[in-house]
Amino acid sequence: MKFSELKPEYQKLLNAASEQLNKSYAPYSKFHVGSAVLAKDGTIVAASNVENAAYGSCICAERSALVSANAQGKRDIVAIAITAIAHEADGRAKPVPEPVAPCGACRQMIYEFATDNDIEVIMSNTAKDKIIIKTIGELLPMAFGPKDLK
Ligand code: THU
Repeated sequence: MKFSELKPEYQKLLNAASEQLNKSYAPYSKFHVGSAVLAKDGTIVAASNVENAAYGSCICAERSALVSANAQGKRDIVAIAITAIAHEADGRAKPVPEPVAPCGACRQMIYEFATDNDIEVIMSNTAKDKIIIKTIGELLPMAFGPKDLK
């Protein structure tokens, strides 16, 4: 689907994710990711990926956004948007042609924030002309989660 086909609140959410692309700290992969979460009360919290010279310490944009939302007391998340832009070694921007899907670790954390609802995951390419929406239940079937520890 295209940007114009998204409902207005999801357009706003995806724009908030895009606005994070220039805040991304990705000197190693040069793959800049922006993400934004929408809380049940309408609050939007956005963040980017933050890399580290010790590569295993990198954090994805999605988990950054979820952790920031938690810091603001927002744990009731209804949707999350993701987009990215890559850069060539010489710094030239290289748009990502396909929608950006969350990694496995991020899917697990998104699932944790889905309490009484099934979070919608809005995955976009850089140009916002290829967007796919799936629920976290679809992206992480048979998930291990809070229910398993009851
Ligand atoms: N990354 C994200 O932030 N989210 C994703 O959904 C995929 C991967 C980041 C991690 C790393 O900083 C860079 O993209 C390349 O993997």
